[in-house]
Amino acid sequence: MENPQNRIFLALDVPDEKQADHLLSLWDPGERPLIKVGYQLFFAAGPQWVEKRKNAGDTIFLDLKLHDIPNTVAKGIESLSRLGVDFVTIHASGGRKMMEKARETADKHADGSRRLKLLAVTQLTSTDQKMLNQELGIPGDVRESVQKLASLACGAGMDGVICSGLEARWVKQVTGTGFLAVTPGIRPQGFSSDDQKRIVTPREAVLNGADYLVVGRPVTQAPDPKKAFQSLVEEIR
Ligand code: C5P
Repeated sequence: MENPQNRIFLALDVPDEKQADHLLSLWDPGERPLIKVGYQLFFAAGPQWVEKRKNAGDTIFLDLKLHDIPNTVAKGIESLSRLGVDFVTIHASGGRKMMEKARETADKHADGSRRLKLLAVTQLTSTDQKMLNQELGIPGDVRESVQKLASLACGAGMDGVICSGLEARWVKQVTGTGFLAVTPGIRPQGFSSDDQKRIVTPREAVLNGADYLVVGRPVTQAPDPKKAFQSLVEEIR
C-alpha cells in the first residue's frame, strides 16, 4: 500500500508563518505532512510564504474556496497556477461555467506535467440537514445535494470534491472511482467535534473510499502534534 502519510493533509490553521514554520519544523525534511493552507494563514503570510514552502519541497493545498463569476475565478486560477500550488478549492455551487473556465485556465497554465488540481466544495462539513433546508433553502437531504454537486463538478472537469467522510462512497457512486474524494471533518475516537457536524474517524473515512483526509485541530491542538499525526497514519495503515 502507498505510504498512508501521503493521504493526509495537515490543515495549518494557525495565525502566522512563524507558528506554521514552527509546527512543520517538528518533522524532518522529506517526512513533513502534505499541508493545507486556508484563509487564516494565507491572508497573514501571503503568497511569498507559500512560494518559500514550495521551494522547500512541500505539497500545498490552498483552500481558498473560490466562488465568483467565471472570468474572475479563472483569473484567480491563473495567478495560483503561477504560484505553483498543487491543489485549490472552488465552490461547486458557483456552477458549471465557472468550473469549466477554471479547468481550462489551469490546463493552459500547467507547467509540464505539473497541473493544478481543482477540488470542488460540495456542502461544507459544518452544514447539517436543518441548515441546508431552512437557511440555504435547498430541499432534500445532504446526500442528494452532495451527489448533485459532485456530479456537476465531475462533468465540469474538476479532479475531485471536498465532502465528508460519510459521503465519499456516495460521491463515487455518481462520479466513478478516479474522481478524488477529499474529506475534512475527521475526528479520531474520543476527540471533540468542535464546529464540525458530519464527522467520521480516519478509519471510517478510508473505508468509505476517501482518497485524502484533511485533519486540523486533532493534530495542531494536540500536546504532541507529531505523535497525534503519526497515530492517524497508523490508524489508516
Ligand atoms: O480542525 P479541523 O480538522 O476541523 O479542520 C478541518 C479543515 O478543513 C479546516 O481548515 C476547514 O476549513 C476545512 N474544510 C472543512 N469542510 C469543508 C472544506 C474544508 O472543514 N467542506
